Amino acid sequence: MADRDFDIVLFGATGFTGGLTADYLARHAPARLRWALAGRSLAKLEAVRDRLTAVDPRLEVMELLVVDAADASALAEVAARTRVAISTVGPYVAHGEPLVAACAGAGTDYVDLTGEPEFVDRMWLAHHQTAVASGARLVHSCGFDSIPHDLGVFYTMKHLPSEGPVTVRGVVRSNATFSGGTFHSALGAMERARQMKAAFAERRRKEGRPEGRSSRAAAGKPHRDKVLGYWLLPLPTIDPQVVQRSGAALPSYGPKFTYSHYAGTKTLRYAAAGAVGVTAVAAAAQLGPVRNFLKGKVKQGEGPSESRRRSSWFTVDFVGEADGELVHTRVSGGDPGYTETSKMLAESALCLAFDETPKTSGQVTTAVAMGDLLLERLRNAGMRFEVIDQV
Ligand SMILES: NC(=O)c1ccc[n+]([C@@H]2O[C@H](COP(=O)([O-])OP(=O)(O)OC[C@H]3O[C@@H](n4cnc5c(N)ncnc54)[C@H](OP(=O)(O)O)[C@@H]3O)[C@@H](O)[C@H]2O)c1
Repeated sequence: MADRDFDIVLFGATGFTGGLTADYLARHAPARLRWALAGRSLAKLEAVRDRLTAVDPRLEVMELLVVDAADASALAEVAARTRVAISTVGPYVAHGEPLVAACAGAGTDYVDLTGEPEFVDRMWLAHHQTAVASGARLVHSCGFDSIPHDLGVFYTMKHLPSEGPVTVRGVVRSNATFSGGTFHSALGAMERARQMKAAFAERRRKEGRPEGRSSRAAAGKPHRDKVLGYWLLPLPTIDPQVVQRSGAALPSYGPKFTYSHYAGTKTLRYAAAGAVGVTAVAAAAQLGPVRNFLKGKVKQGEGPSESRRRSSWFTVDFVGEADGELVHTRVSGGDPGYTETSKMLAESALCLAFDETPKTSGQVTTAVAMGDLLLERLRNAGMRFEVIDQV
């Protein structure tokens, strides 16, 4: 590994979130970081490098690697030259697999931003064993999906007894909006509900369960939360699956761990409007012409402006209960989807590249691969993890 040319290669820097990730690395990475940008257009890569050079003049000589996300042999060459690959090239179901395959084969650590469960399950089925053999760590969902939830539960578990059953619920609130890339990826995932279910079922059959312990993601029902005072709506994102996988891998989550995941609103009226809105978009995504109309409305490559991002925020409240004890914790920060996401993704890559992480390989979650080390990095970078109440 030490003789590889780069610590990190970033794929997708010419897009919205990848551009923010490149900016974050230029501003915050240690001077010893050796990194490069990869993408399909040299002219676009040069424009990104010019922008970064204004932040750090040493980046003027940064190497640019022209490679298409579908070119398996070129990706294999790049994967063999770097210790960590970052990808913001989405939708991942459409573009992601060749790079995951290249990293799994070359023993190269990999991080991405996917919120697409089908992609994660298919990558486990196709590349987990190769990565275990090569020593590569394949860490999906290193953005708002799913770090605040995965590390939030990891943090909550430190404040609960875990000798017996533990239940944790996570409740997300935010005022933020999304980019074209996220919108296209979400519509794509809704369109592929059948394929998603099939990949999930096949993985479940092959993966097995932890011996003598259970870890479950429970669907939950709409209700008013007595501890938090919010109306809760079950949120069927990738996050509960990620948390459940951390629970299965980490004995510190106890013998019987259950997680449920919700969106929280202050009034029943907002909760009802949210449910109707999501159902309407999910239904629309099933119809080709409506889907194409919606995709045309929000362009890929674009996202919320800097001033919109500056006024955006998120909170994820966790209520954990075990053996008569209750703890309420919170993870919070600024704009979840882009400002905080680019920070989380960049810090995950830096953590894999430079920290003394636990020995893991194959497809692993952020809590399993990086746990406390990443949590500390994110705290130092301004995200908050705190205990609100404990009884
Ligand atoms: N889960 C989360 O928390 C979270 C948050 C933010 C984003 N995301 C996900 O991250 C992904 C990116 O979002 P975004 O808004 O940044 O999208 P975007 O602006 O559309 O950027 C997509 C990037 O992929 C590149 N790309 C596309 N096809 C390619 C190919 N064949 N070869 C090489 N590069 C290719 C684009 O390159 P060109 O410039 O050459 O077109 C661009 O750099 C989406 O899947 C989104 O859902 C997730």
